[in-house]
Amino acid sequence: MTTQGAVTTREFVLSDHDRAVALWSEIDSVEICEGDSREEVAEYLKRNPGLSRVAEADGKIVGAVMCGHDGRRGWIYHLAVAQEYRGRGVGKLLLDDCVRGLREAGLKRAIILVERENAAGHEFWLREGWEEIDCAIPMTKEL
Ligand SMILES: CC(C)(COP(=O)(O)OP(=O)(O)OC[C@H]1O[C@@H](n2cnc3c(N)ncnc32)[C@H](O)[C@@H]1OP(=O)(O)O)[C@@H](O)C(=O)NCCC(=O)NCCS
Repeated sequence: MTTQGAVTTREFVLSDHDRAVALWSEIDSVEICEGDSREEVAEYLKRNPGLSRVAEADGKIVGAVMCGHDGRRGWIYHLAVAQEYRGRGVGKLLLDDCVRGLREAGLKRAIILVERENAAGHEFWLREGWEEIDCAIPMTKEL
């Protein structure tokens, strides 16, 4: 658990799913997609114990992030803070928890994908010391 002012972070547990999805759904730059159903999140949390986190303040969830790894790279998804709690270090608190957890799990590098039009999100990651992968083109395929 990490505390800053009135904000506390803790492990994301399955009973947080609905409230986290509600938070993400309010935010344009977070897309609810495959992997976000209750069953899939349950599996993800089981495979990556303790790495995904929520931030709580005033009795509600004000931030959430999914974090896991495949044994080689860490991956961070859906980092989001409720609008009225932004700019208070909550995003950094959640990200620091993820990075600490990945390090403790033995990971040396993590990857995130930022939507091209998400200029504010991009600034946050740059500010936190993340680098663009100039030599790579992100690619995907529906399986
Ligand atoms: C991105 C986001 C998680 C940041 O959360 P936050 O709690 O407001 O960020 P913090 O207060 O912890 O800021 C950490 C640092 O990033 C900087 N930062 C945060 N948002 C920024 C912005 N829009 N532009 C420039 N810098 C920014 C802060 O100034 C701070 O720097 P400092 O430590 O030098 O003061 C939040 O704005 C959000 O939920 N955005 C919508 C979802 C999103 O885009 N998520 C990223 C998906 S890739």
